[in-house]
Amino acid sequence: MDWSVLFQHPAWVLSTALLAFVVRLQRRGSWDPKACSAVLSGKTAIVTGANTGIGKFIALDFARRGAHVILACRSESRGTAAVKEIREKTGNSNVHLRLVDVSSLDSVSEFSKKILEEEKALHILVNNAAVSGLPKQMTKDGLDMSFATNHLGPFLLTNQLLDLVKHSAPARIVNVSSMNHKKGQVDFSHFHGENLNYSLDEVYNHTKLHNIICTNELARRLQGTGVTANSVNPGIVMTEVMRHYPLFFRCLFNLIGLFFFKSSEEGAVSPIYCAVAEEMEGITGKYVDSDCSLKLPAPLARDPALAVKDFEICERLTSKL
Ligand SMILES: NC(=O)c1ccc[n+]([C@@H]2O[C@H](COP(=O)([O-])OP(=O)(O)OC[C@H]3O[C@@H](n4cnc5c(N)ncnc54)[C@H](OP(=O)(O)O)[C@@H]3O)[C@@H](O)[C@H]2O)c1
Repeated sequence: MDWSVLFQHPAWVLSTALLAFVVRLQRRGSWDPKACSAVLSGKTAIVTGANTGIGKFIALDFARRGAHVILACRSESRGTAAVKEIREKTGNSNVHLRLVDVSSLDSVSEFSKKILEEEKALHILVNNAAVSGLPKQMTKDGLDMSFATNHLGPFLLTNQLLDLVKHSAPARIVNVSSMNHKKGQVDFSHFHGENLNYSLDEVYNHTKLHNIICTNELARRLQGTGVTANSVNPGIVMTEVMRHYPLFFRCLFNLIGLFFFKSSEEGAVSPIYCAVAEEMEGITGKYVDSDCSLKLPAPLARDPALAVKDFEICERLTSKL
């Protein structure tokens, strides 16, 4: 392509730059974590998938606020590098790595056991780790890999740590979902890899819908305990989330994202808002959008009877160990 052609049309270049600038301003949202004075010293927080992307910036924010932060990651080398970076940037040495593969029920159970042995409290749990665009793959528990990673593993993790969280109240559980949940469907055979179409983000969308449905039921069960549970959409964020997609889509995502999508730091804002903002105190069972406003999720995520059923099925599936 002859790029000089762009400079022959300055109005086109200027209007595109202006549009990109406006989109950049809008995507930031109104809440600024740096202006939030919430202090987390004496508090313990776990962030899953905290070695990169949105999770790393959530953990960084908690560390800046003085929390004891546990990065729950599956890769020792990537996790250790993130711990080092966060310690250096924040001066908080109370940042630690604990290994967990959230797609494996055994690994989640081992992780929970260790946390319950080591920690006296857990004030914030952020279920952030997820995958998108995986081809058909089953776990040794007989679960679809995307469902195990994005929903069933985090579901088990939350339930296994729930007594500790309750004991630490006031406490907050934040489940990172996505606006893509709106394209998701509920079919319980999906959990076992049946009736799924693995093209692009289809399976991911279903998993993100289950995140919200079960968070709502969890919030209902937690009423009166001082523990809140909310789902959050971080927005469209330039991370490694596209790593399993064909090269063409990765390039397209990154190219468009350069101008229009959030950075990982910006993507962390709405999850951090849910976890620390005073405005979210006592708020539970809600879906928080990428601009930190409360939004209604898709109709399926607002069906209480479906939520009870979904939660019970997930309980049965994850308690078979
Ligand atoms: N990026 C977006 O546009 C966007 C939009 C809406 C929602 N979200 C949500 O935001 C959250 C964070 O995503 P991201 O964009 O930051 O993605 P990312 O850059 O791909 O980070 C995902 C994190 O999850 C970890 N992870 C994946 N599988 C795991 C497993 N089995 N066990 C433990 N950790 C595992 C990854 O670890 P490794 O590095 O070891 O693979 C990584 O740390 C996800 O819940 C995602 O659905 C993202």
